[in-house]
Amino acid sequence: MSSNILKVAVIGGDGTGPEVTAEGVKVLKAVAALEGIKYELQAFDFGGERFLRTGEIFPPEAIEELRKFTAILLGAVGHPDVQPGILEKGLLLELRFRFDQYINLRPVKLFPGVETPLAGKGPDDIDFVVVRENTEDLYCGVGGFLKKNTPDEVAMQTAVYTRKGCERCIRWAFHYTRKRNKKKRLTLVAKTNVLTYGHDLWWRTFQDVAKEFPDVEPDYNHVDACCMWMVKNPEHYDVIVTTNMFGDIITDLAGILQGGMGVAAGGNINPEPGGTSMFEPMGGSAPKYTGKNVINPIAAISATAMLLEQAGHEQAAARVMCAIQTVTGTKMKSQAAGKMGYGTREVGDLVCEAL
Ligand code: IPM
Ligand code: MN
Repeated sequence: MSSNILKVAVIGGDGTGPEVTAEGVKVLKAVAALEGIKYELQAFDFGGERFLRTGEIFPPEAIEELRKFTAILLGAVGHPDVQPGILEKGLLLELRFRFDQYINLRPVKLFPGVETPLAGKGPDDIDFVVVRENTEDLYCGVGGFLKKNTPDEVAMQTAVYTRKGCERCIRWAFHYTRKRNKKKRLTLVAKTNVLTYGHDLWWRTFQDVAKEFPDVEPDYNHVDACCMWMVKNPEHYDVIVTTNMFGDIITDLAGILQGGMGVAAGGNINPEPGGTSMFEPMGGSAPKYTGKNVINPIAAISATAMLLEQAGHEQAAARVMCAIQTVTGTKMKSQAAGKMGYGTREVGDLVCEAL
């Protein structure tokens, strides 16, 4: 990022979203003071409450407003009084698509002291990253009904894959694998044995782009087998690149392996110069925990670290990641809401102290 002021738009969103982003912001302020980072923060109230009050989800001019920011920190989207799909499509997917955030980056790392449901596996075994394509596939909203609400009803929902769309994602994933410099293995996860058009395009593109990266081992798993291997041998994985829908599903599986939704964070990245990226904890709005100071803010703090890294503040990001691991490893009793041994705000304070 070229601007030397880090401008962050904070969309707390629904349920526990505002509580966890508040802790992300707290840590951002603390690390900015230590590292001499100049920043500006601005809060936006998009989400279910505003929609119920005004009928407005995301006004068209908001895109131009948000474009002025280096990045967006998003809490959660989803309100119990709003029909499922409205806010998800109208706000979350709208932001991903309008800003062309074509990479959904989901690091899967078991932090010290965090419990995984996988017997006999520890932090050395669970350390990989999923690169999920974020603008195409079944998410693009192409489809329709025929003879709706009749016995002859037909519903169609089309998966759209473009050469441009998969190639830019695959190339980014190869670069990322090289830069990560661990096992240097990139696994394509798809379903080429059944999706013989769409995933054939992914397969051929993957083979072509792989030629540009002789130092990275190209690897392939069908998505069903990937679910099995991820549980049996998570240590096999270094970086996974996959389609939007499969990426959504396997990252919830991966999320529980790393200790659950209180820990898992993700970035919606537009890697182009001047692109606007958005970072979020992966857990939902958790209405039943709202306002109780019990929800785990680690994922939101981790999303803040990803934001700092993407904005070019790599040292500050590393410092936050290190502080998080000190807190999970030496302070927190559990990563589950209400069982952490501390409240939401206290976990944020502990991370600040550990910086
Ligand atoms: C995610 C979420 C979203 C998705 C929903 C809320 C639309 O599950 O970020 O993984 O499906 O992408
Ligand atoms: Mn999901």
